[in-house]
Amino acid sequence: MKLNFELNGKPVKVDVPERTTLADCIRHHLLQTGTHVGCEHGVCGACTVIVDGAAVRSCLMLAVQAEDACVTTVEGISNENSLTPLQACFRKHHALQCGFCTPGMLITAHALLTEEPGAGKDRIRDVLSGNICRCTGYIPIVEAVYEARSAYARK
Ligand code: FES
Ligand code: FES
Repeated sequence: MKLNFELNGKPVKVDVPERTTLADCIRHHLLQTGTHVGCEHGVCGACTVIVDGAAVRSCLMLAVQAEDACVTTVEGISNENSLTPLQACFRKHHALQCGFCTPGMLITAHALLTEEPGAGKDRIRDVLSGNICRCTGYIPIVEAVYEARSAYARK
């Protein structure tokens, strides 16, 4: 099935079987490998991407549902040669260890802070509760997202 949508600010065309998930389409057909799956049934948040402004589980969405949408992956919220403020805060606070959850955490945090740059720690904890991390104990992640808020403050 031929699809057209926008991926990280660029128009893409892709031909995938009808049952392809958005996660598999992004990773295996469009080779944006920052997006990956963990549980494949909507629980872990590792596959989170932003579709038309909302953080969604790309393992639960079919690629065909992204037709004409704007999709953003972790590559789309990254810079080529330097860390973004959010990434720098993750590094500073040791908010990642194995890194498996990190793309989903970054995308979820980015979507939250874009909408709610003043989010408090309870709100951050609440929103990130849909993303599972087996390594960090979550506290460094919450601290990192909390510190990154200033980069999203509305001017
Ligand atoms: S792989 Fe999508 S939520 Fe776990
Ligand atoms: S850093 Fe390993 S799962 Fe989160």
